[in-house]
Formats: sequence, structure tokens, C-alpha cells
Amino acid sequence: MKTDELRESYLAFFESKGCVRRPSDVLMPRGDPTVLFTPAGMNQFKNEFLGVGQLEFTRATTCQKCLRTGDISNVGVTAYHHTFFEMLGNFSFGDYFKREAIQWAWEYLTDKRWLALDGDRLSVTVYLDDDEAYNIWHDEVGLPADRIRRLNEHENFWPAGAPSQGPDGVCGPCSEIFYHPLHGGDEVEIWNLVFTQFNRVGDPPDNLRPLPKQNIDTGMGLERTAAVLQGVASNFEIDSLKPLCLAAGETVGVNYSFDSPQGRPVRRIADHVRAITLCIHEGVSPGSEKESY
Ligand code: ALA
Repeated sequence: MKTDELRESYLAFFESKGCVRRPSDVLMPRGDPTVLFTPAGMNQFKNEFLGVGQLEFTRATTCQKCLRTGDISNVGVTAYHHTFFEMLGNFSFGDYFKREAIQWAWEYLTDKRWLALDGDRLSVTVYLDDDEAYNIWHDEVGLPADRIRRLNEHENFWPAGAPSQGPDGVCGPCSEIFYHPLHGGDEVEIWNLVFTQFNRVGDPPDNLRPLPKQNIDTGMGLERTAAVLQGVASNFEIDSLKPLCLAAGETVGVNYSFDSPQGRPVRRIADHVRAITLCIHEGVSPGSEKESY
């Protein structure tokens, strides 16, 4: 499945579940001083999660342009890190909750009419004390206990470590879905289901206030999932990114191949040029401050 087909298939699946298809938000959010770049699909829906204002809809699906610099040193080195990437998401604002989010994720990944992945290659994690999510995966989806790990707030809370370290704002326990590749590489996280049910205010204890309604925020990596579907060992080998690596190699006079010594720096160039192009598109030019830096 081509990357463009995957994007369309995901949005169509969640439309069939009643989600309203919304466009990606901008990459440089205005009016949100907490981030320089949009890091996730949920950012455009912060008010909806907080229950602020009138809701136009209670279910949504998007493909969000994202930029994260936290992993910049891994870009080109690992198979799965980028600065710019696209995040497929489905969202509930006080509407569906854990049961539907988990069952629909499983249906989309494994059903023959959708991605038709081998369920035996999937495993999941849940937050330490989240028996509700554990039981849905175990009793309703039918995943055996040895494929459901319980992890702490640094792995299975979003944002990571939010209860003890912040930031303040909407957060919740999450459940991540991993694929174990056919070519035997490391497992790869493809989808994070966040059960957004708290507003964090200040330091522990008693800093997690239940939100007026329970919400769902999920993020599936478009490039990672395309790599799984295309059977390639790195995101940089998928149909939408390999041509950028080849073009970057050509521009700097290197014959690009994945395993060559020049592979890593060329992948970095390809990644960074893609990110910079999307930034320039939104009016940011190179400079020494904030987004420009
Ligand atoms: N907001 C969640 C994430 O970025 C889905 O992982």
C-alpha cells in the first residue's frame, strides 16, 4: 500500500465510525505559547478536550503535519525517527472511550478489508494500573497475556511522565501498539492510544483533575506504518521518502544506498530539507531565534 493510500484508508475507516474528517492544523501553531511546532494531532483540539466552548462534533479524524526536534540526533541513524512526520489520528471529545478506541484500532490493523496485518505480529502496552484497558485487550480482543505489557508513566502516559513531571494540561494513561517486523528487526511502535481523562494542575500529589468528560486522542505514525505495509526495514525506504534520499544524494554527489557509509548523512539531509520546506511554506525563514533557529 502506498503512503498516500494508507493516509486515505485511515481517514475513510474512521469516517465509517462517525468521525468528522478535519484538515491538518498548521505546523506553526498560533495562540499556543507552549509549543514552537505542532507536535501531535491533538494540539488543534485542546479546547475540545478541556470542554471549553461549543462542540461542533464529538468525533474527529485527521492526518496532522508534525515536527519534533527532541529526537533530532536519532534522525538518519535509526530506522524510524524524523523531525517532520505525519500523524494519523482519531479523537473523541466526551464521546467514545477505551473500548471503541481499542477495538477499532485492532479492526483497522487486522481486518482483511483494511490493513490485514497478522495479529500474531502485534503486541501492546498499557499503563501500570489500567485494568480496564488490559481487560479489553485480553478478554475482548483476545490478546494473550504475554503480549500485553504494563509499563510506567514514562512509557504509558501521555505526555510521557506527565503525572510527576508535567507539563500541566490535558493528559492520560495510554496504550501503545507494536509491530514485530517480518525481517526480524526491532519491534516498532506504530500507534499510541491515549485515554485523555485528566487535566494536570501543579505538582503531585492530587494534581490530576478528572476532565468534565473522558476523551480519546490517538496517533499512528504514517511513515512507520507505511514501512510495515511496504515490508521495508526503514521509513526512509518507503515510496514517499526514498526519492528524497536519492535526490539528496544526487545533489551532494553521493550515490545513495541505504547501507552505504554515506547513507546516514544523506538521510539526515533528506529529513531536514523536508522539514525546512514545510516551515518555509508557513513563512518561517532561517534565523537565530525560536522556530527560525
Ligand atoms: N498525542 C499522542 C502522541 O503524540 C497520540 O503520541
